Amino acid sequence: MIKIAVVGSSSMDLVVTSAKRPKAGETVLGDSFITVPGGKGANQAVAAARLGADVSMIGCVGDDFYGEIILENLKKNRVNTDYVEPVTGSASGTAHIILSEGDNSIIVVKGANDFITPDYVQKAQKVIEDADIIMVQQEIPEETVEYLAELCKTLNKRLLLNPAPARKLSEAVIHQSAFLTPNEHEFEILFNGRDRAEVLTEHPNKLFITEGKNGVRYFDGHEEKVVSSFVVEAVDTTGAGDTFNAAFAVAVAEGKSFDECLIFANRAASISVTKLGAQGGMPHREEVERGLEA
Ligand code: RIB
Repeated sequence: MIKIAVVGSSSMDLVVTSAKRPKAGETVLGDSFITVPGGKGANQAVAAARLGADVSMIGCVGDDFYGEIILENLKKNRVNTDYVEPVTGSASGTAHIILSEGDNSIIVVKGANDFITPDYVQKAQKVIEDADIIMVQQEIPEETVEYLAELCKTLNKRLLLNPAPARKLSEAVIHQSAFLTPNEHEFEILFNGRDRAEVLTEHPNKLFITEGKNGVRYFDGHEEKVVSSFVVEAVDTTGAGDTFNAAFAVAVAEGKSFDECLIFANRAASISVTKLGAQGGMPHREEVERGLEA
């Protein structure tokens, strides 16, 4: 079984569905409200575990009720939580999500996720050393991402950096990461609005730009390619990117070609959007395989 270490956030998602998205200063009546586990790190850990990987999560929760639910949910999904600690006196991370007009808008309050420091990660180095691939996102402190990138380079480990939410990255982090998976908006911020084709050519088989319904774009060393996504009726796109990243990491660790990895990841992501909640539709391995045969 392949091993994945996820260094990242875990949160409770507070999700409101509404026919209309309020403008600034406006109040509208919503349709429903649910509270479900989320956070980009936890989502990616759960998605990878459902796809058959042996996953260890390195993260922090608050010493509150949400923290208990987040931990319980990770365990229920067979994610190793030996390195997920409650932080005394801190609230768990929360994501405040509006689902409206076919899309989401999200405000993340990091809470305990801000305590995932370089020192904290260092304590879990053994898990990183043992992993086939390491995953990280950007809902944790920037210096932790920098530390992890350097550590992975030193240990000769592949790091998949999902640069979400968007923020600038140092040249060193870009260089030390094995894979970068920005969406189009994150790509613009990461590479200062530079010409896409030029940047892709500089990062063969490393930079994978996710373009939603259009698919995923990358440069394979010879040509620029777009691997198409699958068309489905979307109920909630929250967590689709996390599912994509996890499935891509699983497939890479299993030694599949990049095209195969992207088809597998796109299929998994397309299934994830068919149910409500970031983790609600995240598929198990068999569902993705069935989906690929259909
Ligand atoms: O990527 C989706 C996740 O982003 C949500 O689960 C929410 O927690 C936000 O962090």
